[in-house]
Amino acid sequence: MSSALTDLLPHPIVQAPMAGGVAVPRLAAAVSEAGGLGFLAAGYKTADGMYQEIKQLRGLTGLPFGINLFMPQPETADPAAVDVYAHQLAGEASWYETELGDPDSGRDDGYDAKLAVLLDNPVPVVSFHFGVPAPEVLEALRRAGTVTLATATTPAEARAVERAGADAVIAQGVEAGGHQGTHRDAPEADGSGIGLLSLVAQVRETVSIPVVAAGGIMRGSQIAAALAAGADAVQLGTAFVATHESGAHELHKRALTDPLYVRTELTRAFSGRPARALVNRFLREHGPYAPAAYPDVHHLTAPLRKAAAKAGDPQGLALWAGQGHRLARDLPAGRLVEVLAAELAAARTALSDGGAR
Ligand SMILES: Cc1cc2nc3c(=O)[nH]c(=O)nc-3n(C[C@H](O)[C@H](O)[C@H](O)COP(=O)(O)O)c2cc1C
Repeated sequence: MSSALTDLLPHPIVQAPMAGGVAVPRLAAAVSEAGGLGFLAAGYKTADGMYQEIKQLRGLTGLPFGINLFMPQPETADPAAVDVYAHQLAGEASWYETELGDPDSGRDDGYDAKLAVLLDNPVPVVSFHFGVPAPEVLEALRRAGTVTLATATTPAEARAVERAGADAVIAQGVEAGGHQGTHRDAPEADGSGIGLLSLVAQVRETVSIPVVAAGGIMRGSQIAAALAAGADAVQLGTAFVATHESGAHELHKRALTDPLYVRTELTRAFSGRPARALVNRFLREHGPYAPAAYPDVHHLTAPLRKAAAKAGDPQGLALWAGQGHRLARDLPAGRLVEVLAAELAAARTALSDGGAR
């Protein structure tokens, strides 16, 4: 197991980039300092906001870290469906005493401006979600000394990532918390996501670049399983949401282990793209008819989520969580990396002892 990516890391553990204020510089710094790879999330930020966070992180640690960009999105197929959804959400807006957001607030997430910043001020690692950048972009980043990754949720998407020239692929299983990084949101593909171990084994046989496994991983024993299935490293999101340095709302952190939340579901209710969250009132009521319209629905519901946070109402928040959420641990992030690394070592010893018998 050796690659430009894994050579950067004492432990094969990547902290997932988590947009929405979760993956803040102090979290990324704590993870990198403990021997994992800390990540910042540029999603929903301006290019300057991203740059300020990079500067903050560089003030906290000189160790490698990554930054994640969202790919620009195509035009929404059915704008009328967004109008209908806005109508259906009107009651929420009056309940929270706020207005709905403007669904046309932009679909490229400042991609070009962010890339320009990252080419002028290169960072060690850049990953992409929701698609694959043009080969020229990946080549320019490589020339700047940056290792590149992109998410895939199927073997075909992994092949596209390799063909474009990325250094590694993130194989994201259907268990994963937050948005599925599918290259295209296909409404007809609802419920057809691939489980992590099955996906990693298939991706391993499809591409020759390193594979990072993401989705539902909360313990070192699961890391051992993903590595045994062919991954070179793992990426954990939900496990880090619960850590002390995470910027997640306290209600979100607490909800992960609250018995009130019995399951997660993939939903378009909050953003218009399938994303896994704890099932709460908002998801239950609006998930069944939310349209495939990202990021229109994200912009539409942003003020509702903000108002729910202000009101201290977890039933109106997007409680992003992977299927392993019940195993979340209330620890400092650096300690979590150490515990995961120790569990991984123990699991590997147990496996090789078992093999020797
Ligand atoms: C709160 C939250 C926010 C996320 N935001 C992003 C993001 O901005 N970019 C990205 O590539 N992945 C994002 N993800 C997905 C993660 O990269 C990763 O695939 C996922 O967390 C793995 O599953 P797990 O949460 O079960 O560990 C997010 C996940 C969570 C839980």
